[in-house]
Amino acid sequence: PKSITGNAPHIVITAGPTREALDPVRYLSNHSSGKMGYALAAEAAALGARVSLISGPVNLATPHGVERIDVETAMQMHQAALRLAPQAALFIGCAAVADYRADSAAEHKIKKTDDSDTLTLTLVKNPDIIAEVAALPANQRPVVVGFAAETQDLAGYAQDKLQRKGLDMIVANDVSQQGLGFGSDENAALLFWRVTSGTEQLAAPPQPKTQLAALIIRQALTLLPTQSSG
Ligand code: PMT
Repeated sequence: PKSITGNAPHIVITAGPTREALDPVRYLSNHSSGKMGYALAAEAAALGARVSLISGPVNLATPHGVERIDVETAMQMHQAALRLAPQAALFIGCAAVADYRADSAAEHKIKKTDDSDTLTLTLVKNPDIIAEVAALPANQRPVVVGFAAETQDLAGYAQDKLQRKGLDMIVANDVSQQGLGFGSDENAALLFWRVTSGTEQLAAPPQPKTQLAALIIRQALTLLPTQSSG
């Protein structure tokens, strides 16, 4: 669509990495720049949607007309997502959420010791944010679109995540390819979405993330229940 007509849907998007503190000066994170998620937010807002962008720490300007909620950890992203998702029409999880956090962040800087050459960290699982959104009761559940960042068997792992997390659509990107995925301005993706008879798919070749975002939003909007005007 050129623009969204009628009641503007509320779209909640997560973007960027999360940061999991190990001690007051160190953290676990990943290479997500936020570019893909911010491009989705900009595109959705340009089409006329009301957009809430839950963002991990990134160096990007807030897209025009977008409400931005800054978070740092997966636990904070989880809290913001579960607060906003029940009122939303569409939830898109583009953030690279840390699967694990330190079981307890040290209160003081962890010191290097002379008596051992190894340091053991104990990590605990973070909640799976998108799976929890997808498991909301039917009257609170938005249409749910996830991403899958893979380095092998893109289609297989992505379809597995679509089913296992209970999503409506998944955008699979191969993050081992030079110039695509994390940090770059371009990306390519395989899209899978559910239809009554199974799943349908679309392969999007390498292109600017802004352009891919438009394609993803367009496809996601087709999954929204059509509103009766009566
Ligand atoms: O930010 P950029 O530099 O532009 O890079 C874009 C990107 C590569 C980060 C993006 O395109 C992408 O693939 N995002 C998802 C990254 C990821 O964490 O994928 P995953 O396969 O580990 O997770 C699958 C899905 O579950 C994702 O929708 C993720 O947001 C969600 N998830 C994962 C773990 C968790 N604890 N909670 C979640 O909600």
